[in-house]
Amino acid sequence: MESLARFRDHFRSRFSRYQDYTPLWTDAATLKQTSRRSVFRILAAVLVVLGSVSFNIYMIHKLVKRWPTPLDNYQHLNTHPLVSEEFFSTVPSPSAQENAVVTCMYTDSYATAIATLGHSLNRVNSTAARLLFYLPGSISEEALCIASATGFKPHPVSRIAPPHNGEGTHERFMDAYSKLNLWSLSDARIKAVVHLDADTLVLRNFDELFALPHNFGAVPDVYVGSHGFALEFNTGVIFARPDASVLADMREKMQTAVYDAIQADQAFLNQYFAADALRLPYAYNANLAIKKRKPEMWADLKHRARIVHYTLVKPFLAEADNSGKTPVPLDGLEQNVRNRMGEFDGAFGEELLDWLEIWKETYAQYGTVLTQCQRHGPLAPPVGESHAFGTLLLPY
Ligand SMILES: *[C@@H]1O[C@H](CO)[C@@H](O)[C@H](O)[C@H]1NC(C)=O
Repeated sequence: MESLARFRDHFRSRFSRYQDYTPLWTDAATLKQTSRRSVFRILAAVLVVLGSVSFNIYMIHKLVKRWPTPLDNYQHLNTHPLVSEEFFSTVPSPSAQENAVVTCMYTDSYATAIATLGHSLNRVNSTAARLLFYLPGSISEEALCIASATGFKPHPVSRIAPPHNGEGTHERFMDAYSKLNLWSLSDARIKAVVHLDADTLVLRNFDELFALPHNFGAVPDVYVGSHGFALEFNTGVIFARPDASVLADMREKMQTAVYDAIQADQAFLNQYFAADALRLPYAYNANLAIKKRKPEMWADLKHRARIVHYTLVKPFLAEADNSGKTPVPLDGLEQNVRNRMGEFDGAFGEELLDWLEIWKETYAQYGTVLTQCQRHGPLAPPVGESHAFGTLLLPY
């Protein structure tokens, strides 16, 4: 208080131009006092503002310096297996009658990716049925033949249009809601499905997913940028228990639900299952973005990843923006992978070579069938909508 009084006196003597004048009327002193008081009020206000600003700076600083998430702070700690072998050995293997792995093909340029994905499932002895969803009329017979050469059975589905005539939906995702047909598989007596995006590759068996008692599961999404490790899940890998009544409910609710439509079905599913999704471990959707975001985490993930998701660089697509406009021919795939090795400063060289290795194995085993697809079109007559699983195009 004393120093404040001294400061006030100093302030008065410095800034009052009238300090040396003798007042001409008697109440001039009170007037002077009053104007001084308002000066102090302004000064007090300035001090309050300054105090508030510095308090805010302090709080923001504290917020920025808070602990990072355990994923951004990843350390090599837990080395125990992801699944309890003791428990899992009591669960029967998934049957092809009640369990299915599903992928979707919306453009021809993903055909070789799906052939490779199918072979990657063969390699790990996956026993579930395999269904290839496609929209009749949007895929060539050649592409359907290639995609189904390694075990996926073509399964035509009807298009599910985005709500509000696609307003706000990214043009690349206009057909993407068709993925929701997963839930209609209860009509084919399928009890559990694992949906894999066509840009995934299976490294290890994931049969344990079919034993989950939950109705919906997916892996949280990861972004390289500020969004980082997100709360929202990525729908590249989905575990679901099909139920046609759930599909009917989703189709109705998507007309009124409020969400950012740009990411189409993924955004809707995040909204629909917001509090109810089982968040699965990252090993079931090892998104390349993790490697860029937290290499230490990727190093551990690599040893246990069941499914790798080629999000940032898609080895089978020609364009750096992954637009998939021009399909890469069978004999151009190896060169295509090598062309893309340098992207993201070569961060994904190892993973791109993993994909190439499995593609080469696919070609070594199914090359004759694959080239026949190119030369003679499909091996079986076109698939009709009336067949529950479409006509089998089993080349082997
Ligand atoms: C798949 O099955 C074969 C034959 O039974 C076996 O030799 C191989 O080790 C199995 N592969 C995996 C990844 O389990």
